[in-house]
Amino acid sequence: MEQNVQEPKQRVLSLIQPTSVPTLGNYLGALKNWKKMARDYDCIFGVADLHALTIRVEPSMLRKQTQEMLALLLALDLDAEKNIVFVQSHVHTHSELSWLLNCYTQFGEASRMTQFKDKSRKHADNVTVGLFDYPVLMAADILIYQSNYVPVGVDQKQHLELARNIAERFNGIYGQTFTVPEPFIGTKGAKVMSLQDPTAKMSKSDPNPKASVSVLDSPDVIVKKFKSAVTDSEACVRYAEGKDGINNLMTIYSCCTGLDYAQIESDFAGKGYGDFKMAVAEAVIEELRPLQENYNHVIADKACISDCAKKGAEKALYVTQKTLRKVQKKVGLWQG
Ligand code: TYM
Repeated sequence: MEQNVQEPKQRVLSLIQPTSVPTLGNYLGALKNWKKMARDYDCIFGVADLHALTIRVEPSMLRKQTQEMLALLLALDLDAEKNIVFVQSHVHTHSELSWLLNCYTQFGEASRMTQFKDKSRKHADNVTVGLFDYPVLMAADILIYQSNYVPVGVDQKQHLELARNIAERFNGIYGQTFTVPEPFIGTKGAKVMSLQDPTAKMSKSDPNPKASVSVLDSPDVIVKKFKSAVTDSEACVRYAEGKDGINNLMTIYSCCTGLDYAQIESDFAGKGYGDFKMAVAEAVIEELRPLQENYNHVIADKACISDCAKKGAEKALYVTQKTLRKVQKKVGLWQG
């Protein structure tokens, strides 16, 4: 997606939860696109620590993982000077807009969110109002910046639809207030699957450590995980229906090398799955190497991470206050 230099810069926003180290799915589905867009767009990228509270989390872990996630975003080279890189809870306007948007969201539409249904099954002993309300906070994150594009993986598409519906509804009642955002979902890598069950999404919360690759895994660990990836008995590298494991590996390989499926099939014609798995592992190791090297530098400087968080929050507050005031005024809150 090239941007015409004559036009005012369009705004891109996305956040990631600090629930653990991001997976290769998070990276290929979202972070890699953030990196590409950081140069040409006016970007806002954040750590969604408030969203992480929707399931039970150890406070000291949340603090640690929030700092680590921010360090990882800084290591991605998102140009934090030009763009905004921030922690969600440091910018109170998000939560304030979220409350207002709650009053413009139908209970029925929020109940239809499939991620809420999945997560409430998984955490049946702790189905909170926060878990239910999660997509409305996400809508506030997006709408408060007047974002044009939101780069995410496929699993967030329904939440994006809800944000669009809320924006359109509000604009319909009060006149143009919010930019209606477009999802930006890559053609490949938008849904990276588990290495152990290729019919399920690769997820940070998967209890099986072999199912997902973390972006900070060492080369040895990456090789081991790909070696044990579930495939099929055909022993032929081709992209086809019913070959979920190989399709997933081909997608990962394609995202990391830029090769299309036809080229991959021809390069691996007559070769076994063992060779292919090694090639995928090596491509992933090379893809992640610069990020891992940068991360080791960034994480060593805690003062710099705190400083970046502070600067990010100041910039974010400045931008978001404008939208919040506009909304408060439109709905009739007396501003004194
Ligand atoms: P989160 O933290 O679950 O995931 C971060 C990003 O990674 C994408 N993703 C994947 N992409 C491809 N394959 C996978 N297996 C995979 N798993 C995850 C997600 O789609 C996401 O883009 N609610 C969001 C965080 C959020 C947000 C926002 C996003 C809060 N506010 C505003 C966009 C805009 C979440 O939990 O993402």
